[in-house]
Amino acid sequence: MKYNFDEAFDRRPLSGKWACAIGNDLIPLSVADMDFPLMPEVGEAIKKAVDMRDFGYQSMKEHHYQAVLDWIKKRTGEDIPREYLLNTPGVLYTMRCAMYAVTNPGDKVVIQTPLHTPSIKSASMMGRIPMKNWLIYKDGKYTMDFDHLEKCFREGAKVLMMCAPNNPTGRVWTKEEMDTVADLANKYNVYIIADEIHRDILWDGHKHISPTSMPSIKDRSISVISTSKTFNMGGFHIGTAIIPNAELLAKVRDMLYNFGYACGMPTVLDREAQTAAYTQGETWYQEMMSYVEGNISLALDYLDGLPIHAQKPDGTFLLWVDISELGINNEQMWDLMRNTWKVTGDPGSYYDTKDYQDYKGLEHHIRINLATQRALVEEAFDRIRKSFK
Ligand SMILES: Cc1ncc(COP(=O)(O)O)c(C=O)c1O
Repeated sequence: MKYNFDEAFDRRPLSGKWACAIGNDLIPLSVADMDFPLMPEVGEAIKKAVDMRDFGYQSMKEHHYQAVLDWIKKRTGEDIPREYLLNTPGVLYTMRCAMYAVTNPGDKVVIQTPLHTPSIKSASMMGRIPMKNWLIYKDGKYTMDFDHLEKCFREGAKVLMMCAPNNPTGRVWTKEEMDTVADLANKYNVYIIADEIHRDILWDGHKHISPTSMPSIKDRSISVISTSKTFNMGGFHIGTAIIPNAELLAKVRDMLYNFGYACGMPTVLDREAQTAAYTQGETWYQEMMSYVEGNISLALDYLDGLPIHAQKPDGTFLLWVDISELGINNEQMWDLMRNTWKVTGDPGSYYDTKDYQDYKGLEHHIRINLATQRALVEEAFDRIRKSFK
């Protein structure tokens, strides 16, 4: 290995989730970032940019866009035309602006729950009406409820905001599932806006299918990607929207601009960091993937025979753990995690919200983040295992 993912890296001084471990020995396996330090090549690129001392107005040059295109080509084999790309200030912000660009206040917006909390909230912003399309949970696996999705579309939804791969369930939507979504979206003239922030983290041959790569729906699709999850760079604010339809791209660009973001002019440091990650990050990425996959296997081994259960995710570094057999509510779960396990994940209730219709609360799951040092995974799951003895 070129990089040492076992390196003990103290995140307590700066990380919000690690602050809770100051003064006690809690292991926080929450919040979807990694406990690995910044890839050195990205740090070097930032230092180089600082040394050039030019922090005046600067734009994205062609080689900055080419870095994004080359990365996509390496991961999916797709040759995306440069004109499809729009530089953005990050995923969540762009998902919301894209949604504003294709809807008006009072329009209905579909989200698929369980879902990462801020993405749930996106559906109700600026007077839009959220519709929850709950995923179906059966035999430990999540699938889409297409009958209900069609009902939402029939009732006038203008847009489906997908999370692909889905955070927290780890589902990577298959070609068949994406074809059905595309057929329904075409039938009812619905736009698809896909949050693809986790799309590089795939296991066991699962393939990510972006709606922007599907001839049947690409003209009604927008997808949003970034280096945040792939390279643990959530502390930067840069990403890319892929929008094959030029008119749609112009609308999204105008909407970002309306909120004050000039798409061709990211901050110098964000731009150089993203470019270094995409152009020099292949080995780091490959090694990180095999390390994290080892963590997932280890965690699943520890869970074997316990009254809490999980399956390997199709994608993401997140384990969605079924705790229903414990028969406890969220408050009791918090107590168990903090005071007995001394290992915290994110409680299921984070992935639903009381604010909208059809509240399920999700007290039957917790989400555990496995992008951390192997020794911490061992220690955390050993504690969990011992608590059931
Ligand atoms: C599905 C999903 N979308 C968006 C984000 C946040 O993206 P950004 O920081 O680029 O806005 C996260 C972070 O956890 C996420 O899991």
